[in-house]
Amino acid sequence: MTARPWWRGAALYQIYPRSFADSNGDGIGDLPGIVRKADYLQWLGIDAVWLGPFYPSPMVDFGYDVSDYTGVDPIFGSLGDFDELVTALHARGIRVVVDFVPNHSSDRHPWFVESRSSRTARRRDWYVWADPAAGGGPPNNWESYFGGNAWEFDPATGQYYLHTYHRTQPDLNWANSEVRQAMADVLRFWLARGVDGIRVDVLWILAKDPALRDNPLNDQWQPGEPYWHRQVRRYSEDQPEAHTHARFIRAVIDEFPDRVMIGEVVLPAERAVAYYGVAQDEAHLPLNFSLAELTPWSPQTLRAAIDDYLGSLPAGAEPNWFLGNHDFERITSRLGQRMARLAQVLLLTLPGTPLLYYGDELGLPNGRIPVDLMSDPQAVAFPERSREAARTPMQWDTTAHAGFSTATPWLPVSRPGAKWTVGQQHKDPASMLSLVRSLLYYRAKNPALRDGNYAPLPVTDPRMLAFTRTSGDRGVAVVASFADEVMPAPACPDGQWTVLLSSAANNDPQILKPMEGKVLEMTRHTSAAGERQAGIRS
Ligand code: GLC
Ligand code: CA
Repeated sequence: MTARPWWRGAALYQIYPRSFADSNGDGIGDLPGIVRKADYLQWLGIDAVWLGPFYPSPMVDFGYDVSDYTGVDPIFGSLGDFDELVTALHARGIRVVVDFVPNHSSDRHPWFVESRSSRTARRRDWYVWADPAAGGGPPNNWESYFGGNAWEFDPATGQYYLHTYHRTQPDLNWANSEVRQAMADVLRFWLARGVDGIRVDVLWILAKDPALRDNPLNDQWQPGEPYWHRQVRRYSEDQPEAHTHARFIRAVIDEFPDRVMIGEVVLPAERAVAYYGVAQDEAHLPLNFSLAELTPWSPQTLRAAIDDYLGSLPAGAEPNWFLGNHDFERITSRLGQRMARLAQVLLLTLPGTPLLYYGDELGLPNGRIPVDLMSDPQAVAFPERSREAARTPMQWDTTAHAGFSTATPWLPVSRPGAKWTVGQQHKDPASMLSLVRSLLYYRAKNPALRDGNYAPLPVTDPRMLAFTRTSGDRGVAVVASFADEVMPAPACPDGQWTVLLSSAANNDPQILKPMEGKVLEMTRHTSAAGERQAGIRS
């Protein structure tokens, strides 16, 4: 029997390092700050942490513009601090996944400095250079995610370089085997240091059409929709070669035992799941954006998103779910407090691997960022699409700056006041934090929730959503009501319900309060009475 890989069913917790905890009073979170909070992470009950980039960087895209792939930016600490962080988390049974940004470096990276130095530079071909179009101007019509054409003219050498993101983030040329080998060495560097997994940034963008053909325009696009949908990105993303690169990265990760490869693939479900690989030799977990992008949020759209996604998964592939991350608005602001509680119930009970974004366990709402403080390159181009609202400091206690820092934080605290702190919420059984922690507790303890089979449970009212998770003789049901009145809960198919937990403090298994999500344990009539009981088992 082969052991089940650790990441199947594991609960991941995403930390944005700038915003978690500041240890040295400069207003910016850092690695020693995370070490100080290791006990909190263990107490919360997560299985692994995904750390956003902490590498040396000019910070134009807050670390997604890397100028040295195998170092730690002094803002965040040192390599020694990183090793201490890994040791501290491992000592608490928590795995560590790091971000890897292979599609582009910073324009300050020595590779790019060399590449742009002349047309004959040794590393010229490490980036994507092209001559101006026949009549002058950029080589094609590709657009940058941060606005404008994706090509920047380099007057000294008379060619353009490609930047899918900011002009200070030139795209590396993955068609060049030297680039691939250099990146493999970067992966080996971190894997040998003991990280348990890699989250690959923009995996689906690594390959580009070799002929650099123009993208077709999207004639369905309406003003108000994300500007990056103005083009159908047919030639600039999701190319067949991206799968070759995914297999290459996976093979390097597989040189080390028991590691996970997570891939960012912002694509519709049926194209995203292709990044598991035909032979399941690409990402273990191509990220599933369906819940983060779901609009409107309703039982119908949710059911369709869940069915579509689970229905398109290859056999044996592990599903994954998240409600938001550092690129989205806060889930609480998207849905409101009550619905955000229901959403956490779904996130942490759907089959597969959930990713929880730091601060969502407190129900933190979007920060209100004054326009003059916005420096996210996406916000600079499109202020209404600032990503900073979801990157505000973690809120620990009622000391200055919510206990995040002794100095003014780089972004203002989202909501001052005890209500929004770990210190307050951990004492309050009705808080979001207590709900999330109970959900994590039951996931860890109950094999039906962690690994059990999933089946939809029929409901009598379209405002409800329900499913079961079963493993051996254990079974739970998750029932959610989107109604704003009290509703009868679905009948237990076999036996009776016991309430394990409720997002609305409701212990009655027969009814659902407005916008309640609840986890019920099925007690079969045949099982010995008293054997199962509600509440936390030791
Ligand atoms: C990913 C990251 C995002 C970043 C972009 C460019 O989408 O999640 O934050 O800006 O890649 O690296
Ligand atoms: Ca700091």
